[in-house]
Amino acid sequence: MRLQDRIALVIGAARGIGAGIAERFVQEGAKVIIADREPDIGAATAARLGGHFVGIDVAQKADADRAVAAALERHGRLDILVQNAGIYPWTLIENIEPAEWDNVLGVNLKGTYLAARAALAPMKAQKYGRMVFTSSITGPRVTSPGHGHYSASKAGINGFIKAAALEFAGYGITVNGVEPGNILTEGVQQGRSPAFIKSMADMIPLGRLGTPRDVANAVLFLASDDAEYITGTTIIVDGGQTLPEGADFRLNPE
Ligand SMILES: NC(=O)c1ccc[n+]([C@@H]2O[C@H](COP(=O)([O-])OP(=O)(O)OC[C@H]3O[C@@H](n4cnc5c(N)ncnc54)[C@H](O)[C@@H]3O)[C@@H](O)[C@H]2O)c1
Repeated sequence: MRLQDRIALVIGAARGIGAGIAERFVQEGAKVIIADREPDIGAATAARLGGHFVGIDVAQKADADRAVAAALERHGRLDILVQNAGIYPWTLIENIEPAEWDNVLGVNLKGTYLAARAALAPMKAQKYGRMVFTSSITGPRVTSPGHGHYSASKAGINGFIKAAALEFAGYGITVNGVEPGNILTEGVQQGRSPAFIKSMADMIPLGRLGTPRDVANAVLFLASDDAEYITGTTIIVDGGQTLPEGADFRLNPE
C-alpha cells in the first residue's frame, strides 16, 4: 500500500493510460479524483474505482482550478497531481492550421502548466506534493512525420518539469514525468489496423506494445515516497524502443 490514504487528482483518466494510473493508485490505497472532458466514461471509471469524477477541459484555467477545488472540498488536501490528458492528431506541418496548433499545445502543454499552478497553493501550504506529468518519447527523444505540434508540446513538458521542480523544491514538492513509448490504448487503436499495430510491435526490442499498467507502475513510483529524492526528471517507459541505431537490432530475427 504505497499510497495509503493519499489524495490523488488524475487528469485525463476516463480511459487509456490515465485510467490505468488511477486504478494502480487505488490498488495502493489512494483516494482518486478523476478529471476528464468525457463525462460518461469518466463517471463510469470513477464509479468502478470508487473515486469521484469532475468534468473539465484542462486547457481552461477555471476548469483546472475546479478540479483541484473538487479534491480539496472532498478530502481537505491534495497530495498527488497527475496531468495525463493529451491529444495526438496526425497532421503534416504544412497542413497544421494555427487553431489546431493552439488546440494541441493548449491541452498538452498549457494544460500541464494550468494543472501545476492550480495544485501548487494547497501543496505549498501542506509542504508536501508529488506532481507527475505524462510526456512522451515523441518530441523529447524521437519523432515521426505528422507530429510537429505534438512533439513540440511534449518536449515543452520536459522543460516545464525542470523549471517547476526547481521552483517548488523548497516546498517539499517533487515534479517528474514519464515518457511512454507505444502504449496500446483506445486512442492509439483508433484508425490503426491490427497489421499496423503489429508493425509497431516489431520495432520494440521487448517485443510488444506497452500497457497502461506499464506506464502506471512508473507513475506510481514517482508519486510514492520511494521517489522522495527524485525531482526534475523523466522515466522512459518504451520497452527499449528508443535504443536501436537501426532496424537490424534483433539477434534472433525469427
Ligand atoms: N498511447 C501512447 O502510445 C502514448 C505514448 C506517449 C504518450 N502518450 C500520452 O499519454 C497520455 C494518454 O494517452 P492515451 O493513449 O491514454 O490517450 P486516450 O485518448 O486513450 O486518453 C486520453 C484521455 O484524456 C482525456 N482528455 C483529452 N483532452 C482533454 C482535455 N482537454 N481535458 C481533459 N481531459 C482530456 C480524454 O478524454 C481521455 O480520457 C497523453 O498525454 C498522450 O500524449 C500516449
